[in-house]
Amino acid sequence: MQIELDGKVALIVGAAQGIGFATATEMRASGAKVAVADINGDAAMAAAERLNGDATETLGVRVDISSLESVEAMVSEVTKTLGAPDIVVVSAALLDDKTFLDSGPKDWRRIIDVCLYGPLNVLHTVLPGMTERGYGRIICMASDSARVGQARLSYYAAAKGGVIALIKSVAQEVGPEGVTLNVVSPGATDTELRQAREAQTKEAIGDERYASRTKKVLRMYPARRIGLPQDHASMITYLASDHASWITGQVISVNGGFVMP
Ligand SMILES: NC(=O)c1ccc[n+]([C@@H]2O[C@H](COP(=O)([O-])OP(=O)(O)OC[C@H]3O[C@@H](n4cnc5c(N)ncnc54)[C@H](O)[C@@H]3O)[C@@H](O)[C@H]2O)c1
Repeated sequence: MQIELDGKVALIVGAAQGIGFATATEMRASGAKVAVADINGDAAMAAAERLNGDATETLGVRVDISSLESVEAMVSEVTKTLGAPDIVVVSAALLDDKTFLDSGPKDWRRIIDVCLYGPLNVLHTVLPGMTERGYGRIICMASDSARVGQARLSYYAAAKGGVIALIKSVAQEVGPEGVTLNVVSPGATDTELRQAREAQTKEAIGDERYASRTKKVLRMYPARRIGLPQDHASMITYLASDHASWITGQVISVNGGFVMP
């Protein structure tokens, strides 16, 4: 099966690094024009330059998805430069490694603003154009922590659970207009997001306990490895293609078998 995205415009939010950047690379290789959006504007522009394409095919743009105004400005810049987005991926997120009782309203707000308000802002901005044109593919990243719970990630997991409910509900509303929405739910994946959390854990528990913990973690994955950004990029690109036109409102765990919800 060959995935062809020729003539499509893909907007990937949170794409300066990690799963978002791997997806941008994959979609560009499949022929899409690609906008790389990120709160780190310089990194977004540098990432867009690393993609194979010129200024009519790739764009780097700064956005803070927690702000509706910023999201609207991003979509209007992408539309002006590359065309209206046919494909939108929301990969941006923040993580907080804290027990619920050690956290407070400021922590909850910071995570929920990005991880739940972010997708709300993006969907509300891009859906009117997609439904009018009768075509759209939206993929939001959640997390298996939302599907089965995870200690020390409670409010992040709550935000991601909200994303799952949002996508399933909106998929029912806009399906007749040719728009599909799906969720990819990763297990542990080797990206900057995870590396930062792992470095903190290693510092807190020391090298020896960290090595034994790593072995234990791997035993929880039937595939005996943690994920790579490319594992998700392949699934997201498939969901963005016309091969997946009959898949909507689904949550697909890409997780080496870690949980089988
Ligand atoms: N890596 C994992 O183990 C893992 C596990 C489960 C779920 N996920 C989910 O997968 C997605 C991608 O994760 P990743 O590991 O590639 O993360 P990452 O941290 O490597 O990349 C996320 C990107 O989002 C950007 N970002 C953060 N806040 C933003 C904002 N307000 N506006 C715009 N951009 C913003 C960051 O600058 C960064 O470039 C996330 O939604 C994450 O929750 C990842």
